[in-house]
Amino acid sequence: MNTYSLPTFNLDLSDLLGAHSKISNFNPLPLFEKAQKSLEQKFENKTIGFYHWPEVISADEINKIQTLTRELRNQYEGLIIFGIGGSHLGAASILEALRNEKEEKNFPIFWLNNVDRWAMERAQSFVTQRKVATLLISKSGNTTETLSGFFHLSPHLDPKGIVIITDPESGELRRWINTHGYNHLPVPPNIGGRFSVLTSVGLLPLALGGVNISDLLQGAKDLKKSLAPLPLQKNPAYQYALSSYWWDKEEGHHTQYLMPYHSNLKLLTDWYVQLWAESIGKKDLQGKSVGPTFVGSLGTRDQHSLLQLFKEGPNNKVVGFIDVASHAQPLIVGASPVPSPDFDYLCQHSFEEINSKALLATAQSLKTAGVPTYKIVFTELTPRSLGSFILFQELACAIAGEFYQVNTFNQPGVEEAKRLLRQSL
Ligand code: PA5
Repeated sequence: MNTYSLPTFNLDLSDLLGAHSKISNFNPLPLFEKAQKSLEQKFENKTIGFYHWPEVISADEINKIQTLTRELRNQYEGLIIFGIGGSHLGAASILEALRNEKEEKNFPIFWLNNVDRWAMERAQSFVTQRKVATLLISKSGNTTETLSGFFHLSPHLDPKGIVIITDPESGELRRWINTHGYNHLPVPPNIGGRFSVLTSVGLLPLALGGVNISDLLQGAKDLKKSLAPLPLQKNPAYQYALSSYWWDKEEGHHTQYLMPYHSNLKLLTDWYVQLWAESIGKKDLQGKSVGPTFVGSLGTRDQHSLLQLFKEGPNNKVVGFIDVASHAQPLIVGASPVPSPDFDYLCQHSFEEINSKALLATAQSLKTAGVPTYKIVFTELTPRSLGSFILFQELACAIAGEFYQVNTFNQPGVEEAKRLLRQSL
């Protein structure tokens, strides 16, 4: 009950939706139906485009991405990308999850997503040590960090190797395209930054990073296909959205952690935090401030810092774990350099096993303290599974936005700070 098998990942919500919560007596159907009606209207009248995009994206756009990828990888030794927030975290987190050391050496990528002096100095040394292609990604085309970083490094960049990804009509970067003929790709106007990973915003950097983008899109399409025939009460996206909403609103669990047990998935939690925090944390239609605090952490590392608080501090959190099912070739622990009879057993185990058992130990320990948890297990870590996961999270977040009665797709707080920064400069 409340465990779901999705294409390439499994989701276990049995603890969050189980008998020990008041939720087991709650009939969510009217809430689900209302949310579905409102969301489907937005998808159908195309005010919101992210959900159908994996099928809507044209073959021409994908061909252009593939052609640019071939050309830039042939002509350059690496890539610098300027982009922040939704123009950074999605693709960067997939690159971090999937790229291996060989890929990184073959075609290094530096993502300038901050403009403090340390970041700028490192970016400068990156672009001066090799001949790099450049991606400028900004939906608005006006973001201070993105533009100022590019201005500063432009003397070191080949103008012929620049590609701009921005709104098809407006913004400073669109003006540059119109007046200077830069290579370019569009950000669909009906897809906001944090929902744009599966558009050119994510697809071009990912293709350049060696990720198979057809598989990524296929994963998203598979997810849609698997959800389509399900009745609402059996739809895991609705149930996942409900568990976040319920534990926040009804049970006072206002902090929600996502904790993968794989270092290469840490950045994915930053993407998750941005997606949910920027979409849900705002004033609802009645003007009331809503939304839990979303936090990313990393196991086992944070077992040695946060677990104490999770277990014995205030019981006001939800903890979500992410694991990857066992690998075909597990990495077995090597022998101790000094005789260590009490610990020799370690060499009979793999790191994958230690890691998964550490996750289970944490879950068990939290269970005895009554701390609500859930678990996501990727059956494989591939472009396909990440495409599926990304669209699942985006849909669940949009559903939760309907439950909270917020405008999921705006970000007035972020826009105000952008405007104030521009004014003050
Ligand atoms: O999700 C969002 O809308 C924001 O996080 C933006 O992606 C971020 O502020 C960057 O904006 P832009 O892509 O316009 O440079």
